[in-house]
Amino acid sequence: MICHIEVYGCQMNVHDGEILSGILKAAGHTVVDNAKVAEAVFVVTCAVREHAETRALGRVTHLAGIPEKKPIMVLCGCVAQEHGERLLKKMKLLDLVIGPDVYHRIPELLHERRRIAVTAQGTEDYELVTPVRKQFPRSFVTVMRGCNNFCTYCIVPYVRGRERSRPLELILKEVEGLVEAGYGEITLLGQNVNSYTHNGTGFPKLLEEVSAIAGDRCRVRFVTSHPRDLNEELALVMASRKNICNQFHLPAQSGNDRILKTMGRGYTRNGYLAKVAMLRNLMPDIVLSTDMIAGFPGETLEEFEDTVSLLEEVRYDYAFLFRYSERDGTAALNISSPVPVKERLRRLSILQELQTDITMKRSKEIIGREMTVLVTGPARREGQMASRTMGNRLVILESLDYSPGDLVPVTIVRADGYTHFGEPLFV
Ligand code: SAH
Ligand code: SF4
Ligand code: F3S
Repeated sequence: MICHIEVYGCQMNVHDGEILSGILKAAGHTVVDNAKVAEAVFVVTCAVREHAETRALGRVTHLAGIPEKKPIMVLCGCVAQEHGERLLKKMKLLDLVIGPDVYHRIPELLHERRRIAVTAQGTEDYELVTPVRKQFPRSFVTVMRGCNNFCTYCIVPYVRGRERSRPLELILKEVEGLVEAGYGEITLLGQNVNSYTHNGTGFPKLLEEVSAIAGDRCRVRFVTSHPRDLNEELALVMASRKNICNQFHLPAQSGNDRILKTMGRGYTRNGYLAKVAMLRNLMPDIVLSTDMIAGFPGETLEEFEDTVSLLEEVRYDYAFLFRYSERDGTAALNISSPVPVKERLRRLSILQELQTDITMKRSKEIIGREMTVLVTGPARREGQMASRTMGNRLVILESLDYSPGDLVPVTIVRADGYTHFGEPLFV
């Protein structure tokens, strides 16, 4: 069968798309980029905010109409897990609804040709699947799946199930294979990588071992790290190993202690700031990013101002800013005095305006600096190649004389916040 996969949501989902591709391929199906010729279309969805959910469901309707004959429509990912059977009943277009823990059953279900929702939750970690990676020279390696944190706004623990760590030796074996195949970057994946634990090995030790295998031709990153669990041991491993990227995504969510407490985050503003200071002390050039939520239930104007001032104080290179979105089954729904949607949007736009300015200034600070970038592929504009710095900044090279995987020393000559332009040091 000719299959087409479309993915929404976080990097875990992107990698799940690669796993799904591997499962389909192993069962003898062909996966193509073009939806027009597809006999089966898979949409891997995200449920983290209402907007993500609506957009993914909109794509289902759109994609179903693209091939001449209506394809088998398969809804996967977190929305499938969240709504399961209900969604199958409501959306007549859908043939299969499959949660993130049962992708291995897809070939058999395609074969049976029944309309069914399968959302059993278990401890699946797809050890037997060879993912089909699509982003050479960049690659993802799962270290843990699921989340036990239950932050009060978040649906992830409900749709992704409990935390489980993959065996260390299997992770290292996968890393070895990627390095041998010439991959230039490995991102270790987990909703909360700091919770990694296997036979007494924690995340810092795992990272150190991965870094040793990766060697000097392959960079190592990870995502996401919970600020509560970030410790000096991890920072020291990062600082001491040259191939571990000087980049850290450290989602703060809010700058106010009462809100942080109601969110169940387990740290205070000052505790968070101390960790930022520790990272910057050890790695002065570290590229920092965060996630922030505007208008969490009960957030007063004063409390919101603490988030504004946290952005100002930390001066993140990047921030992913969201307005609070109600999610079924989460504890935050029970908090009285929600912030009106209009006011959430107003607060969000204040954060966005401020951060755009900071991001712009931050990126201009690296003009004139020399760094080695990893070429990732063609840029959006013709005649240009895209590449990434160790800090994960996007750098455009105005030449096609490079191949994905090349390491190129450049000087940064221009910068506009998200995009930088590099001139090669040696031509
Ligand atoms: N595991 C990761 C994040 C997963 S979700 C972590 O803990 O950092 C990605 C981001 O979506 C979160 O960091 C949060 O900022 C945002 N988010 C989650 N639930 C949300 C909600 N109900 N409304 C708005 N934003 C939300
Ligand atoms: Fe959601 Fe919190 Fe888990 Fe992140 S740590 S996935 S925000 S519950
Ligand atoms: Fe979204 Fe699921 Fe990731 S809800 S953020 S795709 S774990």
